[in-house]
Amino acid sequence: MHSLQCVLQVQRSLRWGPMASVSWLSLRMCMAHSSLSSTTCPNPERQEDGARKDFSSRLATGPTLQYFLRSASAPQEKLSSEVEDPPPYLMMDELLGRQRKVYLETYGCQMNVNDTEIAWSILQKSGYLRTSNLQEADVILLVTCSIREKAEQTIWNRLHQLKALKTRRLRSRVPLRIGILGCMAERLKEEILNREKMVDVLAGPDAYRDLPRLLAVAESGQQAANVLLSLDETYADVMPVQTSPSATSAFVSIMRGCDNMCTYCIVPFTRGRERSRPVASILEEVRKLSEQGLKEVTLLGQNVNSFRDNSEVQFNSAVSTNLSRGFTTNCKTKQGGLRFAHLLDQVSRVDPEMRIRFTSPHPKDFPDEVLQLIHERDNICKQIHLPAQSGSSRVLEAMRRGYSREAYVALVHHIRESIPGVSLSSDFIAGFCGETEEDHVQTVSLLREVQYNMGFLFAYSMRQKTRAYHRLKDDVPEEVKLRRLEELITVFREEATKANQTAVGCTQLVLVEGLSKRSAADLCGRNDGNLKVIFPDAEMEDVSNPGLRVRAQPGDYVLVQITSAGSQTLKGHVLCRTTLKDSSAYC
Ligand code: 5AD
Ligand code: SF4
Repeated sequence: MHSLQCVLQVQRSLRWGPMASVSWLSLRMCMAHSSLSSTTCPNPERQEDGARKDFSSRLATGPTLQYFLRSASAPQEKLSSEVEDPPPYLMMDELLGRQRKVYLETYGCQMNVNDTEIAWSILQKSGYLRTSNLQEADVILLVTCSIREKAEQTIWNRLHQLKALKTRRLRSRVPLRIGILGCMAERLKEEILNREKMVDVLAGPDAYRDLPRLLAVAESGQQAANVLLSLDETYADVMPVQTSPSATSAFVSIMRGCDNMCTYCIVPFTRGRERSRPVASILEEVRKLSEQGLKEVTLLGQNVNSFRDNSEVQFNSAVSTNLSRGFTTNCKTKQGGLRFAHLLDQVSRVDPEMRIRFTSPHPKDFPDEVLQLIHERDNICKQIHLPAQSGSSRVLEAMRRGYSREAYVALVHHIRESIPGVSLSSDFIAGFCGETEEDHVQTVSLLREVQYNMGFLFAYSMRQKTRAYHRLKDDVPEEVKLRRLEELITVFREEATKANQTAVGCTQLVLVEGLSKRSAADLCGRNDGNLKVIFPDAEMEDVSNPGLRVRAQPGDYVLVQITSAGSQTLKGHVLCRTTLKDSSAYC
């Protein structure tokens, strides 16, 4: 049986009652005192004015707590095309924001940055206003991450701080509503509502369209939750609202969820099944971003190079899947559809002055067409994130990554031959279940062998529900994990410094982001490999307007001569302002 189905079965047996057909759920407040009647809590905050009382009495005629609890035991997946009627206990205008101010705070990965923009786009359409001032917020929403225990601890700490703010508001009788969005809402579900009574709203990663309803319920003093995962929600029609109007780059979500089921990873459980967004809607978004003057897009997903748009019948002529040599997959091989190479080709044609990046790919899906395209197109960055996770074949097997160390190293060589000068980055986990000292030495040696330009290194954190949680033992002591992590970081830095020093003396194309954080006399930007480049803010010639002297602005491309390199940053001096097409000056 496919492992995700296994998981759903386990969830069903642990959860409450028979399957229900509704695809949304809301947990009434006072769930601890659950009864079939819709009792309201004897909390002064909950009985604010007549309108609210009226709303509460309408809620009382709505579905009961038991009903919602039963709904939560339904299969945790729905099709977003299953249209829902508005709940009978809500009037249309109660779904509107009515100028209430929302403060959004993002934790975790780039996917969450994009999710924040999607959530905001939905709320803005509903009439909410955005504030960057916590003190004036009517609603505070935290977009959360569950990937490691530490990420969740950060959120619990933040909730404790917000509790004080909410208590002060209670006294002033202007209620503040607090919502937990994203992976932590999905993983912990009502445990959050029970543990932190001050949380009013829970919305999983596939439930952001429901935010206006959830907030309307919360407005009456009830707790509300929707943590159902979807089989096809990609928010394809929701144009994310750029958080920073002066940004030079944007994230574009191309797919959601993950079917890989690496044994350590919570993501398939918090973000659900893998599904791709239709190519046409991605291209439309990229075009709009280009019209807005953005100069870089990063195509986002948990597994971007497994992209497969099956949205139109004519896309489904069987095209066999090319896994990288020596790689296997944990999920059923899918056929047909428009693949990542097609998408990358189309996206890179939208605007030759727009840089294209993508993250995160899985090493198993790097067919030659994708490598060829990256090599050929000036505006596709020659930068590949190739998460290895471990240098030991034994550990890789325990992680169910679908490759051995040898297959991974062979792929690195193949990529380097196909894309000369390519910049490589990776993720590694220190201290996975059963990792021995010898396994750790293998990871150190992989870091030395590949010499990555960038790295993201983590200590293993056991997550409930994962295969490792059920089948393996988290047997590497915490202090050993941390010592191994320190060693990996040291080796990574030494090797990255060496790799980055090969750029010294070269001229590199840099997309300017703005002032350097360290000095107002310096500017900061990114090279093609996504490394930070710092250089003095000086006048320069503009290649498109000979004779004109200019100062670089965010969004400009400039040529920078690199003079020094560290493990994370390059330094240099600026030569001229240019365009992506005109700049062929590389080492
Ligand atoms: N513990 C530590 N690191 C993890 N990652 C994923 N799950 C865990 C875990 N349980 C790391 C992997 C992944 C990155 C996004 O986070 O390296 O590639
Ligand atoms: Fe997790 Fe593996 Fe999916 Fe990445 S590919 S999100 S590590 S399951």
